[in-house]
Order: sequence, then C-alpha cells, then structure tokens
Amino acid sequence: MASFSAFLLTLSVISFLLLGTTSMAQLTPDFYSESCPDLFTVVRSQIESAVQNEKRMGASLVRMFFHDCFVNGCDGSVLLDDTPTFVGEKKAGPNMNSLRGFEVIDAIKAAVEEVCPGVVSCADIIAIAARDSVVELGGTSWDVKVGRRDARTASQALANTSIPAPTSSLSKLISSFAAQGLSVNDLVALSGAHTIGQARCTNFRNHIYNESNIDSFFAGTRRANCPPTKGSGDDNLAPLDINTPNLFDNSYYADLIAKRGLLHSDQELFNGGSTDSQVQAYASNPDAFNADFIAAMIRMGDIKPLTGNSGEIRKNCRMVN
Ligand code: HEM
Ligand SMILES: *[C@@H]1O[C@H](CO)[C@@H](O)[C@H](O)[C@H]1NC(C)=O
Ligand SMILES: *[C@@H]1O[C@H](CO)[C@@H](O)[C@H](O)[C@H]1NC(C)=O
Repeated sequence: MASFSAFLLTLSVISFLLLGTTSMAQLTPDFYSESCPDLFTVVRSQIESAVQNEKRMGASLVRMFFHDCFVNGCDGSVLLDDTPTFVGEKKAGPNMNSLRGFEVIDAIKAAVEEVCPGVVSCADIIAIAARDSVVELGGTSWDVKVGRRDARTASQALANTSIPAPTSSLSKLISSFAAQGLSVNDLVALSGAHTIGQARCTNFRNHIYNESNIDSFFAGTRRANCPPTKGSGDDNLAPLDINTPNLFDNSYYADLIAKRGLLHSDQELFNGGSTDSQVQAYASNPDAFNADFIAAMIRMGDIKPLTGNSGEIRKNCRMVN
C-alpha cells in the first residue's frame, strides 16, 4: 500500500515535471501581460517613428528577424557586437555591410527598459519589431508569440552557413529551410518578404549580366546602376520588388512570374520547378499569401527559443550581461 502510493506520487511528480517543461518551452502572446503590460504599445510607437523616418527600416527589421532565427534559433545572437575577445555574427558574410536596424533595436530596448527594466528579451523585441514593421508597411497583423530569452553566445560560422546565399539553387534553398524545420511552402511564403526592401549590386550582378531566366528589359534597367566589374558600385541599391518596395503586398510573386526577380534565388522560386504553382497561387490570391506568410513567420519565430532558465534577459542588446 505504502509502495503503491509512493508509485502514484512518483508518477504525478514525473508528469508534473513533463508538463512543466513543455509548457515552459511554449512561447505565448501573453507572456509579458503581467510583467510588462505596455510592451506592445511601446514597441509599436518606436516602429511607427522609425519607419515613418525611413520606410526601408521596416524591411531591414523583418530581415533581422530572419537572420536571428536561422542561426541557433531566435535568441538575439545577431545583436551581439564583436569585442576583442568575442566574435559575433555581424561580420558574417550575409550580415556584413548589409544587415541594418541595430540602432532602432537599441532605441526600442531603451524605451522598454524605461517601463519594465530587466524583463523583456532582445530576442522578443526583434520578433515584435518584425511584426510591427510588416504592419507599418501595409501588411496584415498577427499575434506575436513571446517568452524567448537571450543567448550568451553567437556563431559567425553558423551565420555564414545557415543563412542561404542569393546564389542558391532551388534545392539548396529548400534544404536550408528544411534544416530549420521549415517546409517548401514556408520557403515560398517567407520569401514574399522580398516585397519590401533593397539589395546591393554585388548580390544581383551575376543574375542581371550572366543569366537567361530574367526579363531582358528589366535586366537592362538594373544594369544601369550596377556596373559589371566586380568591386565597382557593389553597394548600389535596387528594390527587391520593382514597383512597390515600401508596401507589404503580394506583388513580389507577380514580379517572379514576369521574370523580374532581382536575386538569382528569387527567380529560382519560379523557374520551371516544383514551387512555380505556389508562386502562381500567391500572385493571384493575396489572402492566401497573407495567411501563409503569417503562419510561416510564427513557425520561424518558434525555432529553438531559449526559455525557462536558459540564456538571460540582456540589459544591453549588444552585449551579454
Ligand atoms: C530564401 C532565401 C533568402 C535569400 C537567399 C535572401 C537573400 C537576401 C539578400 C541577398 C538581400 C539583400 C542584402 C544586401 O544586398 O545587402 C536580402 C534582403 C532582404 N531580405 Fe532576404 N533572403 C532570403 C529570405 C528572406 C526571408 C525569409 C526574409 C524574411 C522573412 C527576408 C527578408 C529580406 C528583406 C526584408 C530584405 C530587404 C532588407 C533591407 O532593405 O534592408 N529574406 N535578402
Ligand atoms: C564568415 O565569413 C566571413 C566573410 O566571408 C569571413 O571573414 C569569416 O572568416 C567567416 N567566419 C567563419 C567562422 O567561418
Ligand atoms: C559572368 O560569368 C563569368 C563566368 O562564370 C564570370 O567570369 C564573370 O565574372 C561573370 N560576370 C558578371 C558580371 O558577373
């Protein structure tokens, strides 16, 4: 009898622990509802002013979320500065001279620390900033799940290899997303973020001079501001979506169908392969694109979060405590 109740007790302790750890690992939109009730309002007003000040900033912050999540999960690692004794991710190939918006994250963090010091992670601030940026540029809103904690480490090596290059083939893009637990459908939906923002000549030069799966008039237009010689005009910018680069709509997919993808990797999504039908579906159905984009952003935000007692809540997003 005594051993039976001991058994029951053990059983309930084990199930409590199991439930406890799984529920701790869940991100949820109301994670800060008691500890920082003004969080969403504070972030939203910061994003409003940053994006009103410069529309492109909205795009830059959406991209920052992607580059954070694809390197060891959404843990704010992308924000850590290099120091003489610490190698961060900012000088990794996909980020160097390219990823931007760090000052905006600093400003949001400072405003959030004013209202609830030491409570909200930098990783969550990136996730909320990305959602608010989409909304500020005309996209549909969604509930952002929060409760992530910040990494004490970063990986330049993983940033170099996990974030796909614009020279990637379709199969390479599919495998990079699969490595993060994201589907082919997620790849096509998330790539719709290229409906906003800009790219540098160095990232599309080969596509506009050397490739045939591109509209020739479009290639000519882009060549005008992107010289063929490596090293000249490398940082010259062009919009990823030719007509509405500051509007979060589905026109990226119409661009691809018209062979006006700016990056090689963009056009790979509509180049006679398995994703053509998905591109066509999103081009003709903005609601389907919005729904799938939102679901995929939530899935991307769920990549390997640090929860419970893992990691920390950074005081300054640029350095570990
Ligand atoms: C599918 C694989 C992807 C590749 C190969 C890729 C590659 C690139 C490249 C090369 C640039 C231009 C960077 C520069 O020239 O400095 C860029 C910009 C951008 N990317 Fe991606 N990207 C991909 C997926 C994504 C995803 C999943 C998102 C977000 C959900 C995203 C959001 C953006 C945004 C918004 C910009 C413009 C940023 C700005 O104007 O500052 N990209 N991407
Ligand atoms: C990552 O790529 C950058 C730029 O190409 C290079 O300088 C750096 O050495 C690479 N780092 C690692 C750890 O592979
Ligand atoms: C075109 O491709 C050739 C052969 O790969 C390469 O040497 C050249 O640099 C490329 N030109 C441009 C403008 O990218």
